[in-house]
Amino acid sequence: MSISNLKDPSLLRNQSYINGLWLDADSGKTFPVIDPANNQTITQVAEMGAAETGRAIAAAELAMQSWKNTTAKERSVLLRRWFDLIMANQDDLAMIMTAEQGKVLEESKGEIAYGASFVEWFAEEAKRIYGDVIPSTSRDRRSIVIKQPIGVVAAVTPWNFPNAMITRKAAPALAAGCAIVIKPAAETPLSALALAELADRAGIPAGLINVVVGTAAPEIGSELTSNPMVKKFTFTGSTPVGKLLMQQCAQTVKRTSMELGGNAPVLVFADADLDKAVAGAIAAKYRNAGQTCICANRIIVQDTIYDAFVEKFTAKVKAFRLGNGFEQTTTLGPLITAKAAENVHSLVVDAQAKGARVTTGGEIDPLGDAFYQPTVLSNLSNDMRIAKEEIFGPVAAIYKFSTEAEAIAMANDTEFGLASYLFTKDASRVWRVSEAIDYGMVGVNEVAISSEVIPFGGVKESGQGREGSKYGMDDYLEIKYICMGDI
Ligand code: SIN
Repeated sequence: MSISNLKDPSLLRNQSYINGLWLDADSGKTFPVIDPANNQTITQVAEMGAAETGRAIAAAELAMQSWKNTTAKERSVLLRRWFDLIMANQDDLAMIMTAEQGKVLEESKGEIAYGASFVEWFAEEAKRIYGDVIPSTSRDRRSIVIKQPIGVVAAVTPWNFPNAMITRKAAPALAAGCAIVIKPAAETPLSALALAELADRAGIPAGLINVVVGTAAPEIGSELTSNPMVKKFTFTGSTPVGKLLMQQCAQTVKRTSMELGGNAPVLVFADADLDKAVAGAIAAKYRNAGQTCICANRIIVQDTIYDAFVEKFTAKVKAFRLGNGFEQTTTLGPLITAKAAENVHSLVVDAQAKGARVTTGGEIDPLGDAFYQPTVLSNLSNDMRIAKEEIFGPVAAIYKFSTEAEAIAMANDTEFGLASYLFTKDASRVWRVSEAIDYGMVGVNEVAISSEVIPFGGVKESGQGREGSKYGMDDYLEIKYICMGDI
């Protein structure tokens, strides 16, 4: 199985999609999209820059003028068609994703369904954008609140979820009546372009969805953040880049929503079901080879069960099969680039130098430069880089605590606050700890916390705003107050 097995090869696009047209770069330049499993070029795609981005924004602004006046039902019908087409092409979209991103094919299929679920959800939510009538302070007045689309949306999306992080932003934008310009990660433009192709086939009018691909992220990003026609900027990526984009957006006072880095703790109490806690921590750690913002970054285990936990955890991790995501036996794919594998290894080397024990893995694998061995580290301490930095790779770091207060303090000892998890059978502790830890999301005896119906997002330096759920529409709407006098 490989990308050459696509049932519909016309899903593989290599230009940008602007104003309903497939376009080359003004410069005629292209850049390669690389398969991280074998370092081979899948295809060349057009290398867009600021000028093409500016034109996409202008097209979006124009397209919005009629879209914002459509009924919710009209918008809903088109979104639903897009959803149906995404699901009908799930296998092909998954193959494109595995080729450019590396994740195991089954995981790619899962992400396509996950991504599509946002389109279905917001197709439905479009019909529930309610306003308000506020009891008035005077008899001859009425106070009304209506909600209107915020304006052109710009989205910068990451390579780790090349489909779902786009639909989670584009679907609410369109449902609200906005148009969007998307700059996907240069590592994974093909999934984004395939989504645009399906939006086109769904009949979504020209200019409402624009996908601009290129490697010149600062140049494209600065057009998106400075152009006054853009009213809302949404980003998923690292905290340092998010801070920079927020600063840039401040010049034109754009609304921003930011889904940034995490340092997710998994607290495992001695009263937890040990096997379930091990399985949960493994699932939270190794999803997408450890490359998600909500991956378990610190597994924090009570001292009385620490050795047993590490032993069971390590035994399961040893059974993983590293390999090309297209092979059926593979349970863990490559990282996105060789550089990513080097970064992960530098964290392991630093931890080892400061006393960490490697119970399995610990090296870049002979399979290839981007393959990092599934790794387990124990005997960890807070002075190690791995305790503070987002690992973004298949390395489990297992820490020890003795009291509940200590576990809470360790969980909160970070500038991040995206996802967190805890395993315990004590119902009082569930409430106490869930309320005491500073995170936007808490999984209790459960790590599969993401879906279209829940508010995904973080606190502290993990970002602002919520994606998905009934709250996910708010960021794309303005509240307008109308005061009616002389009644
Ligand atoms: C992310 O890592 O940014 C998203 C993960 C998810 O949606 O579950």
